[in-house]
Amino acid sequence: MDYKQLVADVVADAVDNQVSSSDIYAKIETPKTAQNGDLAFPAFMLAKAMHQNPKIIAEQIASEINTDAFAQVKAVGPYVNFFLNQGQVSAQVLETVLTEKDHYGDNHDGDNGVVTIDMSSPNIAKPMSMGHLRSTVIGNSIAKILTKNGYRPIKDNHLGDWGTQFGKLITAYLKWGNEEDVKRDPIHYLVKYYVEFHQRDEQDPALDEEAREWFKKLEDGDPEAVKLWKWFRDVSLKAFNQTYKKLGVDFDTYNGESFYNDKLQDVVDTLKKDGLLEKSQGASVVDLSDQDLNPALILKTDGASLYVTRDIATAIYRDETYHPVMNLYVVGSEQTYYFKQLKAVLQKMGLQSAAGLHHVPFGLITVNGKKLSTRHGNIVLLNEVLDESVKMAAQQIKEKNPTLSNQQQVAEEVGVGAVIFGDLKNSRIDSIDFNLQDQLKFEGETGPYVQYAHARAESVLAKAGKRDYQAGNHQLTGDEAWEIVKLLQSFPAVVKKANAEFEPSVIAKYSLRLAKAFNKYYAHTKILTDDEQLDARLALVKSVSIILKESLRLLGVQAPDEM
Ligand code: ARG
Repeated sequence: MDYKQLVADVVADAVDNQVSSSDIYAKIETPKTAQNGDLAFPAFMLAKAMHQNPKIIAEQIASEINTDAFAQVKAVGPYVNFFLNQGQVSAQVLETVLTEKDHYGDNHDGDNGVVTIDMSSPNIAKPMSMGHLRSTVIGNSIAKILTKNGYRPIKDNHLGDWGTQFGKLITAYLKWGNEEDVKRDPIHYLVKYYVEFHQRDEQDPALDEEAREWFKKLEDGDPEAVKLWKWFRDVSLKAFNQTYKKLGVDFDTYNGESFYNDKLQDVVDTLKKDGLLEKSQGASVVDLSDQDLNPALILKTDGASLYVTRDIATAIYRDETYHPVMNLYVVGSEQTYYFKQLKAVLQKMGLQSAAGLHHVPFGLITVNGKKLSTRHGNIVLLNEVLDESVKMAAQQIKEKNPTLSNQQQVAEEVGVGAVIFGDLKNSRIDSIDFNLQDQLKFEGETGPYVQYAHARAESVLAKAGKRDYQAGNHQLTGDEAWEIVKLLQSFPAVVKKANAEFEPSVIAKYSLRLAKAFNKYYAHTKILTDDEQLDARLALVKSVSIILKESLRLLGVQAPDEM
């Protein structure tokens, strides 16, 4: 039940629909203090239509409304304050949560529409850095949120497996690489060669020329170049998959940039046919000056394709293959300008899905204040961060709960969950400085804090034993229980908001509020006392457990029953 909607409806009714209930809905507020009720309607907006002073309108409305759902409706100055009937509302909310369980908050807004999510997309022959963590976990969470809202997401890993950098890598490997080294520790050595290339080419411009030639050979299918490239790609993918496995993230497709090689000529032909391709100093570009954007460079002077050429082919392929209603690109905010250009080109081409193209940007990640860059050798390996986090979690669990039986598994769920949650609790666009120690604390705004509240709820339920608290009319009383009921009641709206904004932090912040409200309730209430409200309290605890677990699931974080 959406009580805000109810308030809007009864107010509209009380004023004979002189203003629509949806306009009224938009004005309804949540009072800051409980003494002003649970919801409030400021009557100012009606003054004009009703030729009346808002204070008098407020009084009129308050006297007309007479619905069981409200314990009291009171005019205070120009405001109408609504006090929900706590007993009735809590009974209704708890019954709905206990019946619908983890489906509570599901809706069909998406109407089964397909949404492609371009996510993770690390570059071959480089380690997946903390920088790629954000795209992976944000995209994964958005996919789950979309599903809950009735969409069908397709998670596509647009691997950076093509481009001039492979000319550099081949050059570097052939010059000073060693096969045995690469076999033993592939990513480490491939990065080493790449970093070395960039250190040397500053003094030796001939290296760049050589690299360009190797990339050209690769594009032309030269067997030696292709063999090396394939090898680099295989060993890199193997390493990425280890990280994905730890994070619990999978993909529907891994169509990297190289997948579109045989589709690039079509792109060029179509652009030509549409009269969109222009020559500019030997290169081919699409002019975007009508949109105040720099031209998009489609082919270099030597005819080599670019990142954007492959992205145009990708968009066309996705359109034809999936007929998506939206195309999301979960990519750092440093590529914002680039995605404006891409969208502008696709619009000019009249591509169906251009309108549904959304760049979903996110801010920079630093680790203990340090920026990440492969080129300068300052790399924090995501794999190592995850392993370290699990190790630290294991240590904490050993101290806090030495008798716990499945310590290693719980440590993995807590350690990995802390990293994911530590990222997702921030608004996407904010830059974050990641500190493992902070994110692993059981107190504060952390994943383990929410996980611990869930485990605490589960342990209360386990102590209570098997009881059928589904039955019964759970009329709960008390401010702290009411706080929880209101949060549970708002969950479906939270799910919609997270979806509309492509913003997992909406769910993460909600889960923190619910965990906090529950911990407060837990500290002040003798939940297991055998009185007439015992079942109602257990129903509340069970509902909290269900929704905390579901919130964490939407973030891609596990919720162990004990920890
Ligand atoms: N591989 C790119 C990078 O690491 C991200 C690719 C994003 N997706 C896209 N379709 N352009 O910066």
